[in-house]
Amino acid sequence: MTTTLPGLPAPVPAMPHVAPVPPGNAASLSVWPASARLASRGDVAVGGVSLAEVAERFGTPVYLLDEGEVRERCRTYLRAFPDTDVVYAAKAFLCRALLHWVQEEGLGLDVCSAGELELAVTTGFPPERIVLHGNAKSPDDLSAALRLGVGRIVIDSAWEIARLSALIPADGRQKVLVRVVPGVSAGSHAAIRTGTDDQKFGLSITDGSAQHAIARILDQPRLELVGLHCHIGSQITTVKPYLTALRRVVGLLAQIRLQHGIVLPELDLGGGHAVAHRPGETALDIPSLGARIRRELATSCAAAGIPVPRLTVEPGRALVGPAGVALYRVLAVKRTGDRTFVAVDGGMSDNPRPALYGVRYAPRLIGRRSTAEPCTATVVGRHCEAGDVLAADVAMPGDIRPGDLVAIPVAGAYHLSMASSYNAVGRPPVVAVHDGRARLLVRRESLADINSRDVGL
Ligand SMILES: Cc1ncc(COP(=O)(O)O)c(C=O)c1O
Repeated sequence: MTTTLPGLPAPVPAMPHVAPVPPGNAASLSVWPASARLASRGDVAVGGVSLAEVAERFGTPVYLLDEGEVRERCRTYLRAFPDTDVVYAAKAFLCRALLHWVQEEGLGLDVCSAGELELAVTTGFPPERIVLHGNAKSPDDLSAALRLGVGRIVIDSAWEIARLSALIPADGRQKVLVRVVPGVSAGSHAAIRTGTDDQKFGLSITDGSAQHAIARILDQPRLELVGLHCHIGSQITTVKPYLTALRRVVGLLAQIRLQHGIVLPELDLGGGHAVAHRPGETALDIPSLGARIRRELATSCAAAGIPVPRLTVEPGRALVGPAGVALYRVLAVKRTGDRTFVAVDGGMSDNPRPALYGVRYAPRLIGRRSTAEPCTATVVGRHCEAGDVLAADVAMPGDIRPGDLVAIPVAGAYHLSMASSYNAVGRPPVVAVHDGRARLLVRRESLADINSRDVGL
């Protein structure tokens, strides 16, 4: 039973219970990168590199990204979605090396700010393959997008129409999409559901805001409306909500043709494809998603009497989440009443997701083989919040102790991109592992980095 203490927010609803898999069993690595292998003395190797050695060489906490796993996931999408623009949602995680990998694999990019955009373009990412999103783009975001020549800007509010138009030179024209809300509820938690009218993104089809915005955009000679965009949420485990959203958006495309006599050539269906964080959880099957979406698109367009638009999809977490592993050092173990707390040297500053929307992980002892009976433990961070929990009620060896290493798989998406320097704890480094080599991609944030922003009295 869960209780709410006065003055404290209600606890995040628990995710379904998943039976723990014994750590010596290869199935215990089922949510790890495909390259993960059990190694001697309780170690695990990813991309041919020992995690214990990564901890030794780069310190902890540290994040690993398996380059081969990212590339293979890009290829899975391209195979599942032929004749489709697959666009990586950079909000999941962004750094220069990752930009190179996704560009080399032939993907486009979705960015949400001038900052993400500048990093991409200065790394050499072709601007015409970039889509700019955001429910509240700043004047700087819009100016940067126009200056750097992004391929598409996704209009998310009626305010943005005139604001964007006014920034475009008289002889210029910008391709835009409109983000519409189809009235479809999907996603594992309210904080990541964006397909219904009770949240901040997009323009409602149900109340006519989308149709109204479309008419206004068509009146703006500097805006070229090329299509519709729809992202219904994240961590969606079944295909059905996508098909429902697709039918509604195709209905709107048909309505636009009837009302305005134009055929919009593009349809962007966003991302949100679920990954498994623990053995036994369901990930959305990408080949089946691709086949069913493309079939439904052809059928719905034929029924509506409109040509099939070019499709775009925007996966984030399904491309990089399972390629990442977070590695921590245990600093303290505390047994209070019937609870065991395992406190590590990172926490909510590098991974706020358990606190934000109840993500559950399967942490693992690394670098030491334990024969002790497992205990039920809660892995917590080092920060000054009781809610700084990385993994509640998980099986850990009963003799877990300070100095041990703990790895958390499926750590590649929305960890470091959401990280903070809470308690002036610097953000961890990112290390790429591939073909037996480890190389630093992003260095650790130092105290000097943090203090340098404070300009003094
Ligand atoms: C517009 C848009 N596209 C794509 C994504 C990527 O979602 P996911 O990482 O769940 O695939 C998001 C996530 O917030 C988004 O807002």
